[in-house]
Amino acid sequence: MDERNLAGVKNLDVIDYLQSRRSLSVKYMDDVAPSDDEIETLLKTAARVPDHGKLFPWYFIVFKGSARAEVGTILREAYRHEDPDASAAKLDLEADRFMRAPLVVMVVSRMRHGKHPLWEQFLSAGALCQNMSIAANALGYGSNWLTEWYSYSPVFRDQLGLDARDNIAGVFYIGKPSAQPDGRDRPDLAKIVTHWHEGVTLNKGDAAYDQDKYDLPAAKIFGVGDD
Ligand SMILES: Cc1cc2nc3c(=O)[nH]c(=O)nc-3n(C[C@H](O)[C@H](O)[C@H](O)COP(=O)(O)O)c2cc1C
Repeated sequence: MDERNLAGVKNLDVIDYLQSRRSLSVKYMDDVAPSDDEIETLLKTAARVPDHGKLFPWYFIVFKGSARAEVGTILREAYRHEDPDASAAKLDLEADRFMRAPLVVMVVSRMRHGKHPLWEQFLSAGALCQNMSIAANALGYGSNWLTEWYSYSPVFRDQLGLDARDNIAGVFYIGKPSAQPDGRDRPDLAKIVTHWHEGVTLNKGDAAYDQDKYDLPAAKIFGVGDD
């Protein structure tokens, strides 16, 4: 157990790092994978995350080397169910999804029996995912947190061995950058922050950020008892 406790220790490098963080598209990844030691560091760092009740409500599936091609059999089959008319070329493309980076790590949120709300278990998985992104960057790699269609494919989930307690929180594509990404808009704090006082109207960001052409998205959660 690492007993060091850095709560309250100032480190502005971390602030700077977080403020300049960016995802790296799989288009810009070289084929240089982290070493086994680096992968161990990555997973250990990701797993050091707030977790109400010490439930460890998540686990990892690591795809490296030939495993990335092997999982293509499942991806192909799953995509055939998504689109029975898919051409052979399209099926080949989908089967190769995990080949886009030298390392692919799937984070699965697993619902635990416990008194703490499931919502908090999901949040812990999200926090773990963010730790994973930052740790990959800090080790000198780019990473891209994706879910894509297969995370919601019943065939893909089944064939991989997931069950009704599992949700894919993220699939991390990790590799050395071959180029740096452009900037991206970040939220305007004035639209989403409220300094509360009695009677204040909350800044919920709706006017600026709701995309009115869509309905509110449905939660895609495969709860116990659902199919
Ligand atoms: C849960 C989750 C799933 C995501 N899935 C996708 C995805 O399937 N495809 C995609 O283009 N971006 C996806 N993203 C967004 C990217 O990870 C990334 O945040 C985005 O490209 C913006 O880049 P930035 O991280 O530099 O802000 C997802 C993000 C989250 C949090």
